[in-house]
Amino acid sequence: MDALTALQPRGGLDNLTVYETGRPLEEVAREQGLNPEELVKLASNENNLGPSPAAVEAMQREASRMHLYPDGGAFYLREALSKQLGVTPDMLLFGNGSNELIEFLGHLFLQPGTNLVMSAQAFIVYKLIGDLFGAETRQAPMQAFRHDLDAMAALVDENTRLVFVANPNNPTGTRVRKEDLKAFLDKLPAHVLPVVDEAYIEMLEPEDRPATLEWVKGNRPLVLLRTFSKAYGLAGLRLGYAIAHPELIRWLGKFRQPFNANAMAQAAALAAVEDQEFLDRSRVWVREGLEFFAAAFAEMGLETVPSSANFLLVKVGEGRRRFQELQAKGVIARAMDGYGLADWLRITVGTPEENRRCVQAIKEVLQ
Ligand SMILES: Cc1ncc(COP(=O)(O)O)c(C=O)c1O
Repeated sequence: MDALTALQPRGGLDNLTVYETGRPLEEVAREQGLNPEELVKLASNENNLGPSPAAVEAMQREASRMHLYPDGGAFYLREALSKQLGVTPDMLLFGNGSNELIEFLGHLFLQPGTNLVMSAQAFIVYKLIGDLFGAETRQAPMQAFRHDLDAMAALVDENTRLVFVANPNNPTGTRVRKEDLKAFLDKLPAHVLPVVDEAYIEMLEPEDRPATLEWVKGNRPLVLLRTFSKAYGLAGLRLGYAIAHPELIRWLGKFRQPFNANAMAQAAALAAVEDQEFLDRSRVWVREGLEFFAAAFAEMGLETVPSSANFLLVKVGEGRRRFQELQAKGVIARAMDGYGLADWLRITVGTPEENRRCVQAIKEVLQ
């Protein structure tokens, strides 16, 4: 590209990789010559129940106001959410997905010479953000697909700035025990900021959720990340939020563009947070789907990892090849070779009919 040779992009571009998303329905349909309506997408841990009906109604009402910029401060959503969580409004920061909040954490804490600590099979975006800011990413091996919190603590040194614990974890679906998380946080040195990524927290039964919110309210330096993309069924809107001490929120907010949480997302989320019944229904539906998958795969002699989230890992052997073969049958799962799990697929719980189609397709490709 001769025309570009005089340009001087920042160093290290070759070390940056682009996140591999779950494949969009329409793209797979075009490629496979299939009808998008007939495809089953179980690749991105979305809620295939769809959005809460209350959120859909709110979006319909909001549609005719899309010529206006959003409320940059998300006043109404902030009020509603802070009331529900029992935190002050200044303890919340909204992001274009919780992904954007992870990037803000990178802006605030990471640069060459610093490092972040995570599990070897945790959400890959932590590492991508580390790479983006020239920081080192230290990955602790997991134990039986669970975070090994002692191994993570052992990787912390004076240059560690952030430690990420996804609970439940993606892609393994496992959760940490409440008392283990507390002991881990107590042990971290004061210069390290723990980030507990609770993207799937709504999937846990309330009694299985660590008291992270209470810890934040108790002034513990800790950032919680949550999202409307998973249990709330609003992934297309891109809205996540951080909960932390007001001063930390103020620092992180310095990296925010003025209208990063769009108006449609704010309207839908405001309705969704009030619809507890929808969340409860989703949780039951996910539990039943996980039971169905676990039983079906056990019958087929396939190993699975018991999951506390809305997806599970299943060992099919040659995951990338099976992923391709399933696609040809109209089922989109997620290959796990990027996570060092080359023999595994990650499958999101879909509707009962989608789950049945997925199991049937796996049976056929393994025959
Ligand atoms: C653990 C975890 N954190 C964060 C995210 C990002 O979610 P979003 O940016 O849609 O809020 C995901 C999405 O898959 C995830 O699995």
